Amino acid sequence: MFISFEGIDGSGKSTIAKLVDEQLKKEGYQTVLTREPGGVKIAEDIRAIILDKNNTNLDDHTEALLFAAARRQHLKERILPALKENKIVLCDRFVDSSLAYQGGGKHLGVNEVYNINIFATDNLLPDLTLLFDMDPQEALKRIDKNKEREVNRLDLEKLSFYETTRNTFLDLAKKYPTRIKIVNASKSIHEVLDEAMKIIKVKLNESK
Ligand code: ADP
Ligand code: TYD
Repeated sequence: MFISFEGIDGSGKSTIAKLVDEQLKKEGYQTVLTREPGGVKIAEDIRAIILDKNNTNLDDHTEALLFAAARRQHLKERILPALKENKIVLCDRFVDSSLAYQGGGKHLGVNEVYNINIFATDNLLPDLTLLFDMDPQEALKRIDKNKEREVNRLDLEKLSFYETTRNTFLDLAKKYPTRIKIVNASKSIHEVLDEAMKIIKVKLNESK
């Protein structure tokens, strides 16, 4: 079972992914919690180039290709081996992030970005994607409150960028209603976790 956690920055997906991982482990499931861009050494190195705020001249196409390259390495080294061992893979961001951020936010086109990602992933998509949806302004306020978080290159985007990215995520959810389930991320951590766990349990029971 391959589950991805998606949403704009500050929507709380990393927080919930960690709690879901703890909850499933407590219940005896074997899980692997990982993230993109990164998850393995080579992909983390690529992540450092992408997020370096000094790389102001990084071309948008280069950015999309680097995300896809990091994804390929992460898939081969971490995700596929874990799936082979029948583990539940919980991945903080996957291909939908590229479609929404680069395809939508950066206006490269969802289909164009999807095409380079087919090459990167051999067209493997998650079995389930949780889309943590909320107003970008509120999500960015959460990040502002968390002073320890280092500001990266993509954090310097304008609010309109996150609005387009959010809307692209919502369009994807409409396009793939079986795979992508929307979670209202503006609620309390407890409520969001509850909603996420309910959706995951339905999927796990279906696949038994
Ligand atoms: P993301 O991974 O989507 O960027 P994080 O999980 O890092 O988001 O959360 C961003 C900030 O918001 C963190 O400081 C986190 O503690 C806080 N947070 C997460 N979920 C909620 C929530 N439901 N309500 C209020 N604050 C939250
Ligand atoms: P990160 O610090 O992991 O952010 P978050 O905690 O919100 O997930 O930074 C990852 C940034 O990269 C984030 O702004 C989203 C962006 N991103 C893309 O633009 N495209 C992608 O394909 C992926 C995986 C991430």
